[in-house]
Amino acid sequence: MSSTTPSPALRTFLQDSATRVEARIRKALEHPVPSAEKLFEAMRYAALGPGKRLRPALVYACAQVFHGVDFDLAKCDATAAALECIHAYSLVHDDLPAMDDDALRRGRPTCHIAFDEATAILAGDALQTLAFELLLADQTELSLKLQLLQELAAASGSRGMVSGQAIDLSSVDKTLTLEQLEPMHRLKTGALICASARMGALLGGAGIAELQATTHYAQAIGLAFQVQDDILDITADTEVLGKTQGADALLNKPTYVSLLGVDGAREKLRGLHKQALDALATLPGDTLLLRQLADYIVQRSH
Ligand code: IPE
Ligand code: IPE
Ligand code: MG
Ligand code: MG
Ligand code: MG
Repeated sequence: MSSTTPSPALRTFLQDSATRVEARIRKALEHPVPSAEKLFEAMRYAALGPGKRLRPALVYACAQVFHGVDFDLAKCDATAAALECIHAYSLVHDDLPAMDDDALRRGRPTCHIAFDEATAILAGDALQTLAFELLLADQTELSLKLQLLQELAAASGSRGMVSGQAIDLSSVDKTLTLEQLEPMHRLKTGALICASARMGALLGGAGIAELQATTHYAQAIGLAFQVQDDILDITADTEVLGKTQGADALLNKPTYVSLLGVDGAREKLRGLHKQALDALATLPGDTLLLRQLADYIVQRSH
């Protein structure tokens, strides 16, 4: 867990996934509604800014691992784009003055600073519904499409990401126990990451046992992702991070670092990394790409 650069093969995979999903999102945002150009510009700013595109990468990787290398990745583009739109909307709203009140995201002014607060709220709203439009409009077999819609709605809504955000905001200035912190992290960040992997696996035709192993893998990396986010908030530079370093401490948020210290949080991260790899080890076939993604999530520098 010492290196911070992804392997060349993973770097290429991440780059190809990002190119695919960005093309799909860009296409969906062509031809703005007359007089609502600013809204579309804000949506493009939020969804196509320099992010890691991790959730799309998980979709493509899981589909490919379960279906095989001959899989037509185009079948995943709408799902990958839908997940990135939900993620981008969650970041725009997360940064608003009423939430984390952050001025920096992906090395640039946050959406409400670059535009204005009302436009940022609307851009988030519109990215959320665009996600469902993308899935609905896609040429996916109907029962699979319904499964994908169900996964996305459940992970992003009031029993998923939004609840996590609600618990996060109501926990400011409070000391949570680890038993309270973990479900919050699993909801606010883990749910969408888990849905990304499961939706990719469904697109790749995974069976029940494969879907279960994918879920265990993704639950571990989903929580690991937020643990590393908490660690980076305190250990990384603003310049590398592309967001304000120390924002959690400034807002007095309960995090893995505030509860366990940096070393304790790193130990938690190692345990989750192992859990993810153990889940993959139950699967037959070549899961190297998913192992590499798990490594990347715990080693990432921003
Ligand atoms: C940041 O997510 C917010 C969390 C859920 C922790 P990412 O670290 O995936 O953000 P981008 O998309 O790369 O900017
Ligand atoms: C954000 O958690 C989770 C979501 C946006 C759903 P954080 O508030 O820790 O994310 P950053 O650190 O601002 O990216
Ligand atoms: Mg937040
Ligand atoms: Mg935040
Ligand atoms: Mg954070």
